[in-house]
Amino acid sequence: MTSSKNGAVPRHIAVIMDGNGRWAKRRLLPRLAGHKQGVESLRRCARACVERGVQVLTVFAFSSENWNRPQEEVSGLMSLLASALAKEVAQLSRDGVRLYFVGDRQGLSDKVRAGLQEAERTTAHNTRLILNVCFNYGGRWDIAQAAQKLVAQGMELTPENLDRAMALAHVPDPDLMIRTGGETRISNFLLWQAAYTELFFSNALWPEFDEAALDEAIAVFSGRERRFGQTSEQIQPSSAVPQTA
Ligand code: FPP
Repeated sequence: MTSSKNGAVPRHIAVIMDGNGRWAKRRLLPRLAGHKQGVESLRRCARACVERGVQVLTVFAFSSENWNRPQEEVSGLMSLLASALAKEVAQLSRDGVRLYFVGDRQGLSDKVRAGLQEAERTTAHNTRLILNVCFNYGGRWDIAQAAQKLVAQGMELTPENLDRAMALAHVPDPDLMIRTGGETRISNFLLWQAAYTELFFSNALWPEFDEAALDEAIAVFSGRERRFGQTSEQIQPSSAVPQTA
């Protein structure tokens, strides 16, 4: 019998990196220590994706709603982004990673904005993995900014035009979305692009999400049948019920 599993490594993985705060709290550490450990986990995940032939990794690093966190945590995350750029970009580049920062840059300081531009410029020639870091990003923001762009150009709001105006127009839609930390929500991440994305929820806190956990998510993904609105028989014609005369 023909297998209905897709059997593939996902081309594009998206991740909601949840659980840094709880990881820190369990160790009686400040929340920011959890985010720092989250950067380590992100580096490990990016390298593992390169090794497994994943072409695009998109991570949710700071949401449009995260501004509502305590001021100390917000400024800590901004500094962490700056220091992560300073520390990580050279190695990521050696690993063949091309960085894109996706989100509303208007809310960011000149210094942070300059850092993002510089990191994008220095990694622009890399081809092994695209790493989209969604920062000051929200799915609703993305849909609204795409619609505003089209309206300003006098273009029709069709799905195809919106697709091209989205902040992630440079990559295919995610095949697999992983959320760590035990919650089972999308939380305003990739609302448009996740229409047919397979979802995987892990109880691991993000700092603990290692290669074995990634492999489990990929194995579950490759066992899923993706139908994109079609029937199982259309996807796998040989598994159709034989017609009787
Ligand atoms: C959610 O965990 C995580 C975040 C809001 C930040 C994610 C950031 C990183 C993993 C670091 C990478 C960041 C940069 C700047 C490159 P949470 O704090 O909501 O955890 P909790 O649910 O346990 O409180």
